[in-house]
Amino acid sequence: MVKLNRLPKASDGNTIDETLFGLIAEDIEKQGYSIRPSALPDAIASSLYSHQLSLSANKYSDAGIGRGGDYLKNEFVRTDEICWITGESEAGSLWIDWTSRLQNFLNQRLFLGLFSFESHFAHYSPGDYYKRHLDAFRGEANRTLSVVTYLNPGWGNTDGGELVLYCDEHDREGLKVVPLYGTIVVFLSEEFSHEVLTASRDRYSVAGWFRVNTSIDNKIDPPC
Ligand code: OGA
Ligand code: MN
Repeated sequence: MVKLNRLPKASDGNTIDETLFGLIAEDIEKQGYSIRPSALPDAIASSLYSHQLSLSANKYSDAGIGRGGDYLKNEFVRTDEICWITGESEAGSLWIDWTSRLQNFLNQRLFLGLFSFESHFAHYSPGDYYKRHLDAFRGEANRTLSVVTYLNPGWGNTDGGELVLYCDEHDREGLKVVPLYGTIVVFLSEEFSHEVLTASRDRYSVAGWFRVNTSIDNKIDPPC
C-alpha cells in the first residue's frame, strides 16, 4: 500500500490552510486587513516558539529603521531586537513554506503580484515599543503586504504590547490586537500605519513582508 502524504482536508474539501487563506483573502479584499486569532497551524507555531526561545541573545540585533546604507538605529521609534529568518532552521523553513503557499494563494485569488518575502523574529523586552509607522518606506514602496504572528501563550489584559492598526492617517483610535499565541494579522503595507504599545513582559512575534517586483532596466530589486 502506498501511503499518500496528503494535507488534512476540511469538510468543504479544501485543505485547512486553503480554508484559512480564503478567509484572509476575503478580509483583505473587503477591508484591507485580516485579524485571525488561533490561526497559525500548531506545528508551525510550536516550532517557531521553541526556536525563538532558543535564540541566544547574540543572534538578535537592535532593530533599525530603513535598509542598507539608510539603516538607522532610532530609539525614539522602536526599541525591540530582531533576527532575520533565513530558512536554515526547521522552524524557519516551515514558516517560509507556509508563507509561500499563502503568497501563491493570494496571487491567484487577488492578483497581487507578490514576488518575494522577507521576515524576522522580534523580541520586545519589558518597556519596549514601536511607535506608529508604515511598513512601506519612501524609496521602497514595493512592500505590499505585511504579515505578523504572535508567539505569546497566555498574554493578559495588563501585559500591554498590543498592536494598534490605524485605518487611515486621521484615525487616532485604531484597532487593538492582543499579541496572543497563534494570532495572525495581515494588512496592506502602504495603507495601514500601526504601532506596538509598550510591552510589560517579554513579547515574541514574527513579522514579514511580501514584495512586488520593481525591476527597472538592469536594476534588479529584490536581488534574488
Ligand atoms: C514591524 C511591526 C508589529 C508587531 O515589525 O514592522 O510593526 O505587532 N510589528 O510586532
Ligand atoms: Mn510595522
